[in-house]
Amino acid sequence: MNILLFGKTGQVGWELQRALAPLGTITAVDVQSEDYCGNFSDPEGVAETVRRVRPDVIVNAAAHTAVDKAENEREFAELLNATSVAAIAKEAQALGAWLVHYSTDYVFPGTGDTPWKETDATAPLNVYGETKLAGEKAVSEHCEKHLIFRTSWVYAGKGNNFAKTMLRLAKERPELSVINDQFGAPTGAELLADCTAHALRVALHNPEVAGLYHLVASGTTTWYDYAALVFNEAKEAGIPLAIETLKAVPTTAYPTPARRPLNSRLNTEKFQHTFNLVLPAWDNGVKRMLNELFTTTTI
Ligand SMILES: NC(=O)c1ccc[n+]([C@@H]2O[C@H](COP(=O)([O-])OP(=O)(O)OC[C@H]3O[C@@H](n4cnc5c(N)ncnc54)[C@H](OP(=O)(O)O)[C@@H]3O)[C@@H](O)[C@H]2O)c1
Repeated sequence: MNILLFGKTGQVGWELQRALAPLGTITAVDVQSEDYCGNFSDPEGVAETVRRVRPDVIVNAAAHTAVDKAENEREFAELLNATSVAAIAKEAQALGAWLVHYSTDYVFPGTGDTPWKETDATAPLNVYGETKLAGEKAVSEHCEKHLIFRTSWVYAGKGNNFAKTMLRLAKERPELSVINDQFGAPTGAELLADCTAHALRVALHNPEVAGLYHLVASGTTTWYDYAALVFNEAKEAGIPLAIETLKAVPTTAYPTPARRPLNSRLNTEKFQHTFNLVLPAWDNGVKRMLNELFTTTTI
C-alpha cells in the first residue's frame, strides 16, 4: 500500500511515521520537503504532490495550529486548514484514495458539561476552530472515503507541550496559577497515531465506516488538575521543584486573543464501537510521557 503523509514533523505527524510504517510504503512530506511540495500555503502544489505520488491512502497531519496567532491571520489559517485540504480531498476522490484528516474540539462552543457527540451542532468560538470546521466540511464534501478524527489537548514527548512548560515554570517559581474551568482530555500523539493505523485497517476492508469520529483519551480533567498530576509525578520521581502553591483560576483571569471553549469533552462511543478499540485513560499516557522524560539521560 502506498501512503502519503503530510505534516510529518508535527506532534501527530512524527508518531504517524512510526505507526503507519507496518501498513505500507510511506512518502512523508513537510514544508521543507524538496522532492514533493508539502507546503499548505500552496494548494496547487500539494494537489500536484497527490497526483504524482498516486497514494492509496493520504494522511494529513499538517495544520495551522497556532490558535491565538490565527485570530490575526484568518486568511492564512483558512488557506492551510481549509483551502489546501479541499485541494487534497478533490485529488483523493479522483484517485479513489482514502483521506485521513484531524480536527478539533474547538469546533464546539463549549457550553454545558455533556461530552459532545459527532451529531451535535458546531459553533466555533475562534478563527482556528472556524477554519478547522471548514476543513472538515471540505473533506466530507469532496472525498467519499474519508476518516475525520476530532481530538483535543494533544501532547507528545517530542517538542514542547503543556507538561514540559509546567515543569520548567515549577522549577523557577514558588507559585503558579492554572485554569480550572476548561474541561477536556489530554490526548497523546502516540495514541492518535496508533488508533489511526488500527482504524485504517478496518476502513480499507469496510468503506462504509467512512465518516467523522471523536477520538480522545478517556476521562476528563482541567489544566489545573493536569498540572497537579505533573507536579506529583515529578515529586515522586525525585525531581526538585521550587513550586509550593498551585492556584486554581478561571479562564477570565487569563485573557487570550482567541476565546477557548470551557467544555471540550468529546464523546468517543462511535469511534470505540465502530473500530472495536478501547481508549485508555488520559493520565496513563501523560504518566508514560513523564516517565520517559524523567528517565531520559543526556548523552
Ligand atoms: N495540538 C493540539 O492540541 C490539537 C488539538 C486538537 C486538534 N489538533 C489537530 O491535530 C492535528 C495535528 O496537530 P499537532 O498537534 O500534531 O500539531 P503540530 O505539532 O502543530 O503540527 C502541525 C504541523 O503542521 C505543519 N505546518 C505548519 N504550517 C504548515 C504549512 N504551511 N504547510 C505544511 N505544514 C505546515 C507544522 O510544521 P512546523 O512545525 O514546521 O510549523 C507541523 O509539522 C491538526 O490537524 C490539529 O489541528 C491538534
